[in-house]
Amino acid sequence: MSNFPFPALKIKGKSLLPVVQGGMGVGISAHRLAGTVALQGALGTISSVDLRRHHADLMAQTDRSRDKEKINHANLIALDREIKAAKAMADGKGMIAVNIMRAVAEYPAYVRQACESGADAIVVGAGLPMDLPELTAEFPDVALIPILSDARGIALILKKWMRRNRLPDAIVIENPQFAAGHLGAANLDEVSNPRFAFEQVLNEVFSLFESLGLERDRIPLIAAGGVHTHEQVKALMEMGASGVQLGTPFAVSAEGDAHPEFKKVLTHAKKEDIVTFMSVAGLPARAVRTPWLSTYLEKLEKLQRNAKPKRCTVGFDCLTQCGLRDGIAKAGQFCIDTQLAFALKGDVKRGLFFRGSEPLPFGSAIRPVADLIDYLLTGIRPQFSADEGLVPAST
Ligand SMILES: Cc1cc2nc3c(=O)[nH]c(=O)nc-3n(C[C@H](O)[C@H](O)[C@H](O)COP(=O)(O)O)c2cc1C
Ligand code: SF4
Repeated sequence: MSNFPFPALKIKGKSLLPVVQGGMGVGISAHRLAGTVALQGALGTISSVDLRRHHADLMAQTDRSRDKEKINHANLIALDREIKAAKAMADGKGMIAVNIMRAVAEYPAYVRQACESGADAIVVGAGLPMDLPELTAEFPDVALIPILSDARGIALILKKWMRRNRLPDAIVIENPQFAAGHLGAANLDEVSNPRFAFEQVLNEVFSLFESLGLERDRIPLIAAGGVHTHEQVKALMEMGASGVQLGTPFAVSAEGDAHPEFKKVLTHAKKEDIVTFMSVAGLPARAVRTPWLSTYLEKLEKLQRNAKPKRCTVGFDCLTQCGLRDGIAKAGQFCIDTQLAFALKGDVKRGLFFRGSEPLPFGSAIRPVADLIDYLLTGIRPQFSADEGLVPAST
């Protein structure tokens, strides 16, 4: 840690490298990625969504099933296995977090399972986790980290949690203008609103802390969305962030749990291929315009006109509120679980491939997690060979 020019990120008394790997579903950040990141001394995050897809035995029991309880049970077993495998890989270093989307129907069960299986932290995005302190009351050593995009959301959480004598152990501030996956903005027009700029939000949050009687450094703030250079890390730390969180660059790392084709879609996407649209979860989302997404967006108006409540396509009822199942016209009209599962398998035609808007630190090269963290913290790039650096120049 002393080789890096930044102070440690301190969460629950543990000193970590100030680079966090964000949770990525379905199955993009499972035990291999999170365990590798933690072994480096940083915070690695497993995404809890539909993890059975990484376990052939669990898929054999549930792939064709419409039995919701059976699917949910298989997913809890998978989550338990993934946490234990990541912790074993980490060998006591860093931290293993579990990312749970508030919008997911099984959110309380995932929170409980993550705590029971030994996760060091619970990270919640896609909604306001007002009830997280109660859900984790029996596990006071588990760090609680909400993901929010503005000071207004942070104020709501802080005021509610402080009434229960609990504070977040860190807060991820995710800028919807650049981040991948679900975005913390009310609608598509809001996504690029300059009010989400890191400097503005950090300053507003520091004023909020002051008004609530909290010291400036009481809760570490972690900036997420579009971070891809050492210079950005430096600038964000100077603005008062205690760390940065990255998604897309970790998804395409050598140890990322995604299929090689998944990584290729993300690394080869051009700026104009990256689009925002409404997800079924009722939030804007950002992804690569692959064949399925392109066709879907062309048909969207018609799909929205015909939106009406129906049975969940796969019987899994993964979301509390689903635009497709519940016939909510202004939300997305596709089954996110089905499309993300195709992406996980590397099905370029049918998958949904979440990606942030910004360039990748190493272009289209697939590099180890250690290189990414090193570069972000020191500014020293690993050397690449002429063919985009798929092998180090020294070998
Ligand atoms: C493929 C992919 C899937 C993601 N899935 C989730 C998710 O399930 N839950 C979540 O909170 N964030 C998710 N994210 C967001 C990341 O955790 C991270 O905060 C975000 O990608 C940061 O922006 P960046 O990609 O520009 O680094 C996902 C990102 C990617 C690239
Ligand atoms: S239809 Fe909606 S609730 Fe059912 S699995 Fe698909 S996204 Fe989830």
